[in-house]
Amino acid sequence: MLALETSCDETAVAILREDRSGHELLASEVASQVAAHEKYGGIVPEIASRNHLVYAPRLLDRAASAARTRMSEIDAFAATSGPGLASSLMIGASIAKGLAIGFGKGYLGINHLEGHLLSPFFEAENNGDTDIKPNVSLIVSGGHTMLVLVGGLTIYKVIGRTVDDAAGEAFDKVAKMLGLGYPGGPEIEKHARGGDPKRVDFPRSMPGSENFSFSGLKTAVRYLLPRIRVTPTEAQQSRGTPLNDAITGASGSLDFARDDKLLSDLCTSFQQAIIDVLVTKTIAAAQKYRVDLVTVSGGVSCNQELRRQMCDATSRKGIEFKSAEPWMCTDNAAMIAFAALLRLRAGFESHVTEEIDPNLALV
Ligand code: KG4
Ligand code: ZN
Repeated sequence: MLALETSCDETAVAILREDRSGHELLASEVASQVAAHEKYGGIVPEIASRNHLVYAPRLLDRAASAARTRMSEIDAFAATSGPGLASSLMIGASIAKGLAIGFGKGYLGINHLEGHLLSPFFEAENNGDTDIKPNVSLIVSGGHTMLVLVGGLTIYKVIGRTVDDAAGEAFDKVAKMLGLGYPGGPEIEKHARGGDPKRVDFPRSMPGSENFSFSGLKTAVRYLLPRIRVTPTEAQQSRGTPLNDAITGASGSLDFARDDKLLSDLCTSFQQAIIDVLVTKTIAAAQKYRVDLVTVSGGVSCNQELRRQMCDATSRKGIEFKSAEPWMCTDNAAMIAFAALLRLRAGFESHVTEEIDPNLALV
């Protein structure tokens, strides 16, 4: 199985081999376009698709040589067919369809979200028994935050989603406000190490609902920057320095230099607000729907503190927890190849006339 992933700003190609003894990942190539979009402060769709056109043929060559295979030896071709940027999705899907037609092989259009959702079940080498057990799946990435009740392969019910920003988007936007780099998640995680998660009491929105909202949290950070309302740490109180003064310099702008823990405490408090919401809602859903497995996927699930706290919370409730390996949490084609392989095994195939769908829903 050869798969392409070009739904956003990452071009990726993977090759997965399966025989009677199981499957094995032979190649997984990813080309990031972060540098190309950085100066525009966001993803420019036309630049993304032009870059996919440049990178995809190179990655196909690289993947084929890493897998020691030729295109003519591939049995099926897959590509992400949505959701994502239309002009980006078209590149990967057109290449996969062209290869399938050219070599007279099958084609599978795969939902990007299904790729993430199944990724915790992926093992680079597997003995052939991939059982997608019923679970509550939390997909947290730059574009999506959703809770899905999974009954098995292709049996999905979305039970909660963000009503505004995705969790990863909140990480990215807040990192930008704090003058940190892109993508923001890893930057905030790095600065959060050793910080005080209670120093700033950020809002935990929509308690009791299965839906999520992160724009209020983002706005809370924005308002906090010039004019702050906080719970001062003990150290702060004992030093007698009002936090407002430490944060607001004489000119009214931030002065991290006057408080060397400030950035770290802000990042930790912000990260903890997101983690609290993700963990609480996921556990509540698992209990409500009586499933004994929780899975987490998508770029934000690279976050070590989220993984640790989700692992602790699930084990306290006697629930099993699975997450993908960190390299498989961010966008890649191995997860698309895996989903395609499981679908092919279950008798699914797409027709080459099937169009990409930028708003493809998970059903
Ligand atoms: O899954 P992904 O590569 O792309 C989408 O499908 O959106 O996710 C990218 C998102 C970005 O918003 C990035 O900031 C976030 O995942 N992310 C993280 C971490 N690593 C990546 N968020 C929090 N902590 C991390 N370590
Ligand atoms: Zn993704």
